[in-house]
Amino acid sequence: MRNLLITGGAGFIGSNFVHYMLERYSDYRIVVFDKLTYAGRRENLLRWEGEPRFAFVQGDICDLAAVRSVVQTHEIDTIVNFAAETHVDRSILAPDAVVTTNVNGTWALLEVARELQLERFHQISTDEVYGAIPPPQRSREGDPLEPRSPYSASKAGAEHLVYAYYITYGLPVTTTRGSNNIGPYHYPEKAVPLFTTNALDDLPLPIYGDGLQMRDYQYVLDHCEGIDLVLHKGQLGEFYNVGTEVETTNIVMARKILDILGKPHSLITHVTDRAGHDRRYALDCSKLRALGWQSRHSFDEALERTVRWFVANEAWWRPLKSGEYLEYYRKQYGER
Ligand code: NAD
Ligand code: DAU
Repeated sequence: MRNLLITGGAGFIGSNFVHYMLERYSDYRIVVFDKLTYAGRRENLLRWEGEPRFAFVQGDICDLAAVRSVVQTHEIDTIVNFAAETHVDRSILAPDAVVTTNVNGTWALLEVARELQLERFHQISTDEVYGAIPPPQRSREGDPLEPRSPYSASKAGAEHLVYAYYITYGLPVTTTRGSNNIGPYHYPEKAVPLFTTNALDDLPLPIYGDGLQMRDYQYVLDHCEGIDLVLHKGQLGEFYNVGTEVETTNIVMARKILDILGKPHSLITHVTDRAGHDRRYALDCSKLRALGWQSRHSFDEALERTVRWFVANEAWWRPLKSGEYLEYYRKQYGER
């Protein structure tokens, strides 16, 4: 493993992973392949531009010929697939995009990986594939998948294809299922960056329903370390959960953001719930811990770091909250 294709590497987790890997492995080359949708920002990778170990290619993972060409041109031996339509709310408004990119796109990547006999295909998946998990249950890797949103169903479909390529064609694959990430470069449509940037502007924090839904918020670099470990020590054909194993309600998360920023809790506004909202996700991560991984940041540390990053990097997020974003915001929250 030396020449990695990181699809979706201009997005939130993908760009953090590129920084992490280039810093950690001085002999690795990374090619980012990204369509630059509304969620992809080339400036997230600015510090590596001009470095011989780094290249950026704009392209769509659904375009099989373009994927084949980038893999051949750069002598790629490993694909790590972050590219996806990732927002549950958008997948409810317009499900076609998640099916196209997350299912068809993953298939095109697998096809090229099979044809060119790559060393590894790693799929970035999500805890959402297990569906809503009632307490005190925790999801283990062998549990059935019961996705309940167009987004999570498309991610489960992608996972099934990855596994099918392992069984049918012997493609060397691994998959990680991460919980909610927070940290730098998080597009401000997701709850934590949305609440943080709204609070900074003294705007309402729209909490869906009663706000008692539970999520396991992990710091993005902990997730990156987990993926790195699975790439190097994971068993082929296996799935690994990655999370903190500590859940927090959305209302508590929102109050903590306001406390860090010294803003009043009265900014919290309850709005109509998300359709089919999964009440709780909860992972059992013992399989990954057995490989030597541990989550390094508590929820409070991760949240504090994230909020401080947004305070210090207004020049990054301010321009994003305009144009298409405002249109989406009106559609999503206008009538709620
Ligand atoms: P993101 O929305 O921030 O970034 C997605 C990236 O993929 C963008 O750069 C976008 O331009 C690119 N992309 C989208 N469609 C593409 C296409 N057809 N071809 C090429 N590039 C395309 O996403 P994220 O939050 O960083 O998530 C990355 C991956 O991690 C996704 O697969 C997601 O399902 C998974 N995941 C996310 C989380 C989370 O909390 N954000 C948790 C677990 C798993
Ligand atoms: O669990 C992993 C998943 O986490 C990833 O696979 C997804 O790509 C990622 O987007 C994230 O999905 P969620 O739906 O959990 O994240 P989001 O930030 O959209 O919402 C977090 C919680 O906050 C969820 O319970 C819904 C709620 N919420 C969200 C928004 C945007 C609100 O209450 N108000 C909001 O405005």
